[in-house]
Amino acid sequence: MGDDVGNRIVVRPPSFPEVNAGEVLSADPGREWQVLCGDCGHWRLGIYSPPFSSRQELTRLERHSCPELFLLLSGEIVLVVAEMSSGGPELREIPLALGKPVLITQPHAGYCPCGRHTGTAVVVERDEFETHYLPLSGWPSVLAGSRPAANGSAAKNCETGDKTD
Ligand SMILES: [Fe+2]
Repeated sequence: MGDDVGNRIVVRPPSFPEVNAGEVLSADPGREWQVLCGDCGHWRLGIYSPPFSSRQELTRLERHSCPELFLLLSGEIVLVVAEMSSGGPELREIPLALGKPVLITQPHAGYCPCGRHTGTAVVVERDEFETHYLPLSGWPSVLAGSRPAANGSAAKNCETGDKTD
């Protein structure tokens, strides 16, 4: 749903499939990321299931120009977030818990400690944003030299024009 521009992914609305309102939405098992639905120019919802089983398998962090909400659906998922603490840059692990949503704004990645794709989480994010990828090793220096573009533009290509929020 996004245009891959080097180490950057650009998502533009509408960035989700059309669905029939009132019908149950389903996700295919064994996929890292599937967008299920959304509201054009506003939000979209997807299912996330990391294809990694340990932090050692991670090679990059994703950094979005919007917040991202995670809510564990099944299994186990550990998010790894890059933060600047008083002691310097650090990678912090956040084990997701059922019924306990977590909002992420930091560069992040994730893994399933019980095996690849054994955990699933609901993700809510914007319908329009950019993602920059940072290497897991050396992310502090890369982060210091990059910043995703601000994302305050009006939604484009939306079929309905009656959104007034
Ligand atoms: Fe993300």
